[in-house]
Amino acid sequence: MKKKVSLKDIAQKVGVSIALVSYVLNNKKEGRINKDVALKIKDTAKQLNYKTNQIAKSLKTNKTYTIGLVVSDISNPFSSSLARIIEDEANKNNYTVIFGSSDEDANKSLKLIDTFLNKQVDGLIIAAAENTASQIQYLQEEGIPFVLIDRYFPELKTSFIALDNYKAAYEAVEHLIKKSYKRIALINYKSTLFNLNERRKGYVAALKEHNIEIKRSWVKEICFNNSKASVEKTMSELLSLKEPVDAILFSANTLAVDGLKYINKHNIKIPEQLAVISFDESDALDLFHPQLTYIKQPLQQMGETATKLLLENIEKNNKIMQVKMDGELVVRNST
Ligand code: RIB
Repeated sequence: MKKKVSLKDIAQKVGVSIALVSYVLNNKKEGRINKDVALKIKDTAKQLNYKTNQIAKSLKTNKTYTIGLVVSDISNPFSSSLARIIEDEANKNNYTVIFGSSDEDANKSLKLIDTFLNKQVDGLIIAAAENTASQIQYLQEEGIPFVLIDRYFPELKTSFIALDNYKAAYEAVEHLIKKSYKRIALINYKSTLFNLNERRKGYVAALKEHNIEIKRSWVKEICFNNSKASVEKTMSELLSLKEPVDAILFSANTLAVDGLKYINKHNIKIPEQLAVISFDESDALDLFHPQLTYIKQPLQQMGETATKLLLENIEKNNKIMQVKMDGELVVRNST
């Protein structure tokens, strides 16, 4: 199938920005664009046989007052809390949110985005699954308003609202070190996701800067699709080392819940035998005894900021905002 000519192709041929091409072809800002440049853009579009993307165009003219939201898994308290915050902020502005779960699967993400575009949403908020950078690039090339949330691709110049994952992980490990824990493990997902890799980097940096030599056996990676069984095996490995770990940082609430099931089943004393910290708020971490120390993500601020930014960009798609927010280490009795 012949590759569709995109705004980017025209921009590259003329030597101008994608945004300028979009304005000219959508007859925006006519008074403020050099006439010769505008003519050159229109001629090039004709030469390349550019077909205006009807879906993208409709996003500019006849609004539907709907937003498409892609989260990783709506049954995860992190995702459902964020979705609710976005829904409330959107409703305040007469927008309805339709959402779907990518399940960390690029094909599912593509199908969701296609569905949302065919339903002519006015814009999208996306907690990007791994290997979906090309899908985000397509939205950008087509001038479709979107904001990434929680996960983003640093190599793409797009709007995102996310936690400062490196800093949050660093501070959590530093807290454990200050409490004299020495053999600190990290249980993370095996993923190319930037946010999860930043958590690993923050963990490594904190140990290195406190002169603690990291053992390879302390850093564990869990596959998304086999978490429960893998966490059980991983916990057993960490606690049966010649020198068992004395603390664990879980890089996500879902991993911590599976870890706590192991801890309960094997009657492990927290924090006497093992200190535990997890990313993300969740009832499970509150109901566990002792209550877990955790890294609270600023979901209210993240959700509201992302929604406000998207609504601004639905009006005039010209603002790229990249925001990294601080987490809060909520210290309780598990450390
Ligand atoms: O499972 C939820 C975790 O994955 C959160 O830490 C959030 O950042 C998401 O990426």
